Amino acid sequence: MAIHPRSQHLREIGIVRWQRRASNTTSVRVDGGSIELKALSDKVRQCQACSLHLRRQNTVFGHGPIEADWLFVGEAPGSNEDKQGLPFVGRAGQLLNSILFSIGLARDEVYITNVLKCRPPANRDPMGEEVIQCEPYLHDQINHIRPEIIVAMGRFAAQALLKSTSSIAELRGQGHEYSELKIPLVVTYHPAYLLRSLLEKQKVWKDLQFAQSLFSGSKNERSI
Ligand code: URA
Repeated sequence: MAIHPRSQHLREIGIVRWQRRASNTTSVRVDGGSIELKALSDKVRQCQACSLHLRRQNTVFGHGPIEADWLFVGEAPGSNEDKQGLPFVGRAGQLLNSILFSIGLARDEVYITNVLKCRPPANRDPMGEEVIQCEPYLHDQINHIRPEIIVAMGRFAAQALLKSTSSIAELRGQGHEYSELKIPLVVTYHPAYLLRSLLEKQKVWKDLQFAQSLFSGSKNERSI
């Protein structure tokens, strides 16, 4: 099995990286991905389950190493993402990069995806039926990646991942667990919202500090 670059670095300083929980699928690594994740992204590329496929230029499956410890989930691609087929490459993406940097994470070490894999017209909110059709892809994706921690950015990601109808204000500020996989999950504001309400940046930073403490805590637990 390929050694994760950070594992190698940790090993060099005498820390052994804990084995990822066993996946219920066998992932064979190809070019840093897995056959299952590649098959899933091919399936998404051909998806016509809702009308969003009619106007898309590209599907936006997600981006990052399959071994990523951190998974960030947003809402849906915007126009830049639709053009490039990559998540968070516009203004919200630049802010996300800064947010990651502020807690010592580089963009290329985290996995980033969205609830919807196609762009809603004029960046409108996702509709219920679109979320219902698309979210199984997200759940499959998470099952293959098995991150150590999930950050849900915004109401749509939080509600889809937690199967909840609560508001973001109710869901923020507490530790959740994603599904029966029991992956620690933290809810925060969406970066696009922060572009409009800069005062909330402080809260996002706090949320991510909290996520980091859950991440370190779960790592320490596994090392005892
Ligand atoms: N907003 C999102 O929720 N996702 C993107 O990929 C870009 C903007």
